[in-house]
Amino acid sequence: MCGIVGYIGKNNKALEVLISGLQQLEYRGYDSAGIAYIDNEKLNIIRSKGKIANLEKIINFDDKSNIGIGHTRWATHGEPSELNAHPHKCGKITIVHNGIIENYEELKNELLKYGYEFKSDTDTEVACALLDFLYNQENDILSAIKIFKEKVQGAYAINLICDDDFDCIYAIKKNSPLIIGVGENENFVASDVPAILNYTNKYIQLDDGEFAKITSDSIILYNKNNELVKKDIKEFHEKAEDMEKGNYDYYMEKEIHEQPEVIRKMTNEYIGSDMPDISNYKKIVIVACGSAMHAGLIGKNLIEEYSNIPVEVDIASEFRYGKLFIDKDTLVIAISQSGETADTLEAVKIAKSKGCDTLGIVNAYGSSIAREVSNVCYTKAGREIAVATTKAYSAQVTLLSFLAYNVAKTSKNKEDLCKISSFLSDLNKLPIIMDSILDNSLYKEIANILYDKNHIFFIGRGIDYALCMEGSLKLKEISYIHSEAYPAGELKHGTISLIDNGTPVIGIVTDEKIASKTISNLKEVKARGANAICIATDNINLGEDFYDKKIIIPKVNPMLEPIITILPLQKIAFEVAKLKDCPIDQPKNLAKSVTVE
Ligand code: G6P
Repeated sequence: MCGIVGYIGKNNKALEVLISGLQQLEYRGYDSAGIAYIDNEKLNIIRSKGKIANLEKIINFDDKSNIGIGHTRWATHGEPSELNAHPHKCGKITIVHNGIIENYEELKNELLKYGYEFKSDTDTEVACALLDFLYNQENDILSAIKIFKEKVQGAYAINLICDDDFDCIYAIKKNSPLIIGVGENENFVASDVPAILNYTNKYIQLDDGEFAKITSDSIILYNKNNELVKKDIKEFHEKAEDMEKGNYDYYMEKEIHEQPEVIRKMTNEYIGSDMPDISNYKKIVIVACGSAMHAGLIGKNLIEEYSNIPVEVDIASEFRYGKLFIDKDTLVIAISQSGETADTLEAVKIAKSKGCDTLGIVNAYGSSIAREVSNVCYTKAGREIAVATTKAYSAQVTLLSFLAYNVAKTSKNKEDLCKISSFLSDLNKLPIIMDSILDNSLYKEIANILYDKNHIFFIGRGIDYALCMEGSLKLKEISYIHSEAYPAGELKHGTISLIDNGTPVIGIVTDEKIASKTISNLKEVKARGANAICIATDNINLGEDFYDKKIIIPKVNPMLEPIITILPLQKIAFEVAKLKDCPIDQPKNLAKSVTVE
């Protein structure tokens, strides 16, 4: 959420690095953007509403600069506007900030007494004024930062330039990601790896409470106790090409089609090797947000069915406020693509404080959640750029299915063993099956039915309902059509009153045991004028053909079925959004990494 980049070097590259860095971070927020840079000993600040392309139009690229900071915003305090865009400048201090200053009103009232005036609605301008106030008082920026850390509550990743020293950038971090990219005669500060990938693969990870003074050839680091500290320089192994769209027009499209390869990679990595043993816990609690929470619901179904351990799935932002029945016999699994989601991270910290073991199912290497949990399994989906997740979601489901399988295979019960007997052979076939499901012209035909509708419903039972939730979210996120996922049996208790002539209802039917019930529910809505679209596995007897459209997918081992059933739903959402000409990779108001609570 919000992207930050900073550069200091010697070859007049600042403008180029700032803009290319911001472009790479645009998935984190894209309602306004800005940069501050020094040219001829003069600080320039340029900001604009909207995407980075708007900012680029008003930058004079003939300016020569060796130092600058930039920001792409996802508004928290104050509407998206040029005035609220970062960087903010107060007195001698200019900053870009990611996070939320929770006590900003109190601080603002104090600063008003000292004559500070505020032009924007942001908490960031208050942080900036506070840093300026403390700098004036202390006459030393490092002392100002130390006091700032004591006074400010909330989350912040900050890049700072001081008017009295144009030869360095300061970076400050608490509860919001920030890395320092290490180059040759140049250094970088960014909220995420892609911003600097074109220039270096070496970085230093800042931890909470840490800050740094960065020049073109030195990085001086301070720990949370404000003591000088040395930290390891790490390397990341992603390549700039991984961030490109390849032969696709959209990142989401590319990422949907990468899924078979992701499953292949995960099979090679995890099957036959040691995975965390979840069998010894009395209870499992899954914490996650958004699609990761939907993956958790699939995990609950699989783990309970095949490993016989009770599983509770909690939306991470709710977990912390309820009464928690967890202890050392509970395993808390945190699922997160980015590994930075503030609520999920906080849930992990709470679980640890209650003595629970924590397991992270995380896609981003070295991310905050990956570092916080006691054990981590990476999902190996590779960098996901489209805001609406696809491959990271299916990788999370795959990993949960592997965890459940690992327990199930040690069962002494013949019936249990029988249920998983086709798991490995089907898993090996999965990538080919997935390719064939993705290659289907029906998705475009279905998109033609859906794209001009105002409301769409998804219904299913059990694990199919969990899939409906993800399918519905995908559609809402990128096509802006209101949709709801409903347990098929619950439809009659209210929602059926919303079904009218032509209302699309998408039913998912993959479980033979309950298929006839969901089919009946589809008939009920059809009888009331709905457009009935059915996604079913090829073993299901769909009965009389009343469906407006049908997609039939192969039946595989039930532990693997969700991995392939989600594909038609992703494709339908994608095709609808495409038909509506929506900004598929960056839907309005959303951000990929939600680092505020
Ligand atoms: C945001 C994204 C969703 C994602 C959710 C959780 O809302 O737009 O796609 O599912 O955050 O993110 P995480 O990185 O924790 O999986």
